[in-house]
Amino acid sequence: MLIDGFGRKHDYLRVSVTERCNFRCQYCMPEKPFSWVPKENLLSYEDLFKFIKASIDEGIKKVRITGGEPLLREGLEQFIKMIYDYKNDIDLALTTNGFLLPNAAQKLKDAGLKRINISLDSLNAATAAKIAQKDVLETVLEGIQAAADAGLKIKINCVPIKGINDVDLVEVLDFCKSKGYVVRFIEFMENNHAKDGAKGLNSDEIKAIIATKYPNFKMVPRDNSSPAQYYELEDGFQFGIIEPHKDDFCAACNRIRLTAEGFLIPCLYFEDAMSIKDAVRSNNIDEAVAILKKVLAGKPEKNKWSNKKDDNEISTRAFYQTGG
Ligand code: 5AD
Ligand code: SF4
Repeated sequence: MLIDGFGRKHDYLRVSVTERCNFRCQYCMPEKPFSWVPKENLLSYEDLFKFIKASIDEGIKKVRITGGEPLLREGLEQFIKMIYDYKNDIDLALTTNGFLLPNAAQKLKDAGLKRINISLDSLNAATAAKIAQKDVLETVLEGIQAAADAGLKIKINCVPIKGINDVDLVEVLDFCKSKGYVVRFIEFMENNHAKDGAKGLNSDEIKAIIATKYPNFKMVPRDNSSPAQYYELEDGFQFGIIEPHKDDFCAACNRIRLTAEGFLIPCLYFEDAMSIKDAVRSNNIDEAVAILKKVLAGKPEKNKWSNKKDDNEISTRAFYQTGG
């Protein structure tokens, strides 16, 4: 069992397979020019898999593949199949921007993927293009449909940004409701890689917008295994809000992140990280597990986005390295 210094049980590993991305979402990485980590610095799928296997043996029950955009890395289906074949009852999930899904969804499902989270910030093509800094909407919608057709369980992620997609939230909710997808609105986490001046909507502001069409939604009792607080409309449809600015958001944290370069990151907010690259490359799996336990032991209690002294706490961590 993997337990951190605050007694939190960790059973969820997020693995980024690349920091590269074919979008430039304003809240993540709009800056150009841009230089990527050279390919030879990335851990191979075999090396990532060695660590995933050891983590599963230590008690990890859920593995999510992230990026950057994970579908940009060749051979992702085979990687997913390696994990599935090792333990097919692992909750195996992927987070993607959806752009490459039209051709990939069925292959991912066949490889053993169970669930998929897809970003959809707006159903207005111009607004979606403004956020991603690329004309993406039509292809993303095809990708979402391909995932549904393949039988993957779908969650939609939407990051509300003031003055940009705040007017589109009800439409995103209604789309998900009509399709039967779970939707979560994610409070923007301030970080210094995002576009200058980008401002997110907080949970109360998001709820106020939803209330313009659905005034009578109720809070659903919190399920601590999920980062989202869910709310239920009168017709029973539920939507979630991920509220990292809430003071108790981190109390039930159960996750640890591995970057494509082999850094273990205990918290999305902080710079802290330790590398397992040398350990896995030299097949020293005991050492990799020891590093994992050390990282967990030093995991901070909470992020700083809710720091009341400074409303504008900004993290230096790049989300495209950790997959959010
Ligand atoms: N704040 C909140 N969510 C973010 N994501 C990426 N950057 C941020 C940020 N700064 C979300 C994306 C995607 C997931 C990988 O993380 O919307 O759904
Ligand atoms: Fe790419 Fe995801 Fe970052 Fe958007 S949020 S730029 S899709 S990594």
